[in-house]
Amino acid sequence: MSQDLTVLGLESSCDDTAAAIVRHSADKGTEILASVVYGQTDLHSAFGGVVPEIAARAHTEKLDISVSEAMRQAGLGFDDLDAIAVTAGPGLIGGVLSGVMCAKGLSASTGLPLIGVNHLVGHALTPRMTDGIAYPYLMLLVSGGHCQFLIAHSATEFSRLGGTIDDAPGEAFDKVARLLGLPQPGGPSVEAEAAKGDPKRFRMPRPLLDRDDCNLSFSGLKTALLRARDQIVAEKGGLTRQDRADLCAGFQQAVVDVLSAKLERALGEYMSRTRTKSPTVAVAGGVAANKQIREGLETVCARLGSVFLAPPLRYCTDNAAMIAYAGIELFDSGHRDDMTLAARPRWPLDKSSPALLGSGRKGAKA
Ligand code: KG4
Ligand code: ZN
Repeated sequence: MSQDLTVLGLESSCDDTAAAIVRHSADKGTEILASVVYGQTDLHSAFGGVVPEIAARAHTEKLDISVSEAMRQAGLGFDDLDAIAVTAGPGLIGGVLSGVMCAKGLSASTGLPLIGVNHLVGHALTPRMTDGIAYPYLMLLVSGGHCQFLIAHSATEFSRLGGTIDDAPGEAFDKVARLLGLPQPGGPSVEAEAAKGDPKRFRMPRPLLDRDDCNLSFSGLKTALLRARDQIVAEKGGLTRQDRADLCAGFQQAVVDVLSAKLERALGEYMSRTRTKSPTVAVAGGVAANKQIREGLETVCARLGSVFLAPPLRYCTDNAAMIAYAGIELFDSGHRDDMTLAARPRWPLDKSSPALLGSGRKGAKA
């Protein structure tokens, strides 16, 4: 970075309202001075998914509070900031609009420059914020709303090697939990059940492994689990605890196998494109919390001689520190927005890759 910068970041593209302040200086490197996240799980729990209207209203209520809280935690005033960065997409449009309008208001009243950040760039640059890794690197985003392999060349240049053509893996975990009567969010509850189960009892499909590319699919897996569940119910009249644990274990093992195999392919592609021998692989997104999945990915990296990096979970999941940090890199490279900044429900990172199909519970896939 060519200058010392302190940036306020705002995030409201899905079901977390967040504000954070990040500073980068020549002597201390990157410091996260404050990171505030208000989740909305309770507001949506009765509906089995994120309700966009409820999310947008809750963001509007909480954005100002998040900003004040972040400023208080950092002990800073607006005079100490260099810019305001805000998620301008992709995501649920009402939430993105709430954040963009709040940031525009702050920018207009303080005179601070405004920077619109792609939410996926925020995730993709997180390992630079937390661990200072150098470009280029291979990034795997795995969350409730995203699933893609990216080569990060710079803060503005990404190549997408592949991604999901339907559900994101976290979304599949959440749907499986719903099918089995387990609590939301589904990831942790399915993982806990899977630990008690036999992954071999129900053989789940490994979608798209026959295709020699880096695309993934998870919705068929969820359907396979539904069929297996219905068959047990038809035969025995209900599920035992062991049935449930075995179903979870079979499902989770399939996700581990698919992500591991596709990571291996993505690494091969990455190495041939960038001519790197020992690339760094970084992961972000809530699904990276899953121990089996992490171990599967780490094993592939170790076998292929690459370094595996998983930032602390609070910065892997949706947060505003990653948006503030992306704002720092963009500001430093001369990027500025103005009052014409638009909220974008879709915003692909790699304009040269064709759009992927599908739209999940957290809105259309980027
Ligand atoms: O990154 P995140 O907080 O939000 C976005 O989706 O952007 O990710 C949340 C997702 C949820 O679908 C949740 O079920 C999943 O991450 N998740 C997990 C685990 N913990 C959270 N999935 C699998 N195993 C876990 N331990
Ligand atoms: Zn996200």
